[in-house]
Amino acid sequence: MTEDTSTLTGQAPSPVRVAGPTEEIVLPGHTPPPVRDWPPPDLDGTEFDPVLAGLMREGPLTRIRLPFGAGWAWLATRYEDVRLITNDPRFSRTEVTRRQVTRLAPHFAPRPGSLAWADQPEHNRLRKPVAGAFTVSAMKRLRPRAQEILDGLVDAVVADGPPADLVERVLEPFPLTVVSEVMGVPPADRARVHGWTRQIISTSGGAEAAGRAKTGLYDWIAAMVRDRAHSTGEDVYSLLGAAVTRGEISEEEAVGLAGPLQIGGEAVTHNCGQMLFLLLTHPDLMERMRDRPPERGPVLDELLRHIPHRSTVGLARIALEDVEVAGHRIAAGEPVYVSYLAANRDPDVFPEPDRIDPDRAACPHLAFGNGPHYCTGAVLARLLTELLVDTVLDRLPRLRLAIPAEDVRWRHKTMIRGPLTLPVTW
Ligand code: HEM
Repeated sequence: MTEDTSTLTGQAPSPVRVAGPTEEIVLPGHTPPPVRDWPPPDLDGTEFDPVLAGLMREGPLTRIRLPFGAGWAWLATRYEDVRLITNDPRFSRTEVTRRQVTRLAPHFAPRPGSLAWADQPEHNRLRKPVAGAFTVSAMKRLRPRAQEILDGLVDAVVADGPPADLVERVLEPFPLTVVSEVMGVPPADRARVHGWTRQIISTSGGAEAAGRAKTGLYDWIAAMVRDRAHSTGEDVYSLLGAAVTRGEISEEEAVGLAGPLQIGGEAVTHNCGQMLFLLLTHPDLMERMRDRPPERGPVLDELLRHIPHRSTVGLARIALEDVEVAGHRIAAGEPVYVSYLAANRDPDVFPEPDRIDPDRAACPHLAFGNGPHYCTGAVLARLLTELLVDTVLDRLPRLRLAIPAEDVRWRHKTMIRGPLTLPVTW
């Protein structure tokens, strides 16, 4: 990398060549923005990443370099640009698997079958066998069982009396147990599976630990899918086993498809951890949730918009042809990231974006993504979040933090942000 990475460059008087993932031609008046290093942030609380805030101020389209992988990538932060890129088949996920794009994750071993890496029409073919397990009607059927699991956990907390760590007692076991039931993980294997998923979303331990966890989880999944080859059950491993038997997907694809679904529960644990922390530190919001239960929906949605769910950015896309975005030309072959977190704070769409305001004019947030890669587990995540917040608030009256807010410890070296523990009393 030869270019200046720390200062803004001026306007190019004539076409110049800039070294990058591919050599690009820069047209007069279209100087590409400088490449900014984006180290893993390790932020506490629900603070918005100051590096991302700086990139948002710098332009609609900037360029970034993350700790692993190679080269640089474009970054889109505005709501409309993010929606455009994520819904445009000229940006490919599959292409990313063929090279080392700059990234946050130390370990990179994309698998055939993973929805995240599939372009259309493959994405539709792969999604079909499992789609039924995550629909609105499937979630309606799941609701009473999910509530039963949650009640069991909260009963134990009430019986033991205050104080309690909500992460350990409820936020971790609840989504993991429900996701394991949806997937069809036998109870005896759940602790082992959770150990692997926890390591996979962590960036601590480096590439080796993440690689070992992935191997452990994916070998276990392969055995599971084989075991359910003739099952007529409605759990995801049975659906996948049956789809393999019918020849709709390969066993390798079934394994790649299941992994990210199995990991999904982790996202709910940490997102709800941030959500409860925000409620516990914003008395006005907490009061509103308690006084007007029928109006809880808009508060949860506004919190989903506001929560800085992840560190830096997720998965890149690669331009299959030259595409103009926000006055810049993204050349064929160049990688692009979008930030859903930044799009959710776009001041043109969400005035005073840093303020938590459940009464703001309705506009769909992008917390679950957009386009064909929209989160497969979004309806499940909403169900779990709603049940969790409702039950905790209703069963633990006068719930409050048991320690000063500034003493709450936060997960570091992680892709998904959240509190390590949430000690509460009531
Ligand atoms: C993808 C958010 C929970 C499974 C995504 C994406 C986001 C997201 C932003 C990426 C969209 C993109 O790549 O453009 C969240 C949040 C959650 C959550 C905020 C919790 C509050 C879950 C759960 C599951 C799940 C519970 C499954 C049980 C997936 C899968 C994908 C995905 C499989 C990849 C979809 C694809 O590429 O087609 N999620 N998620 N997520 N999520 Fe979630």
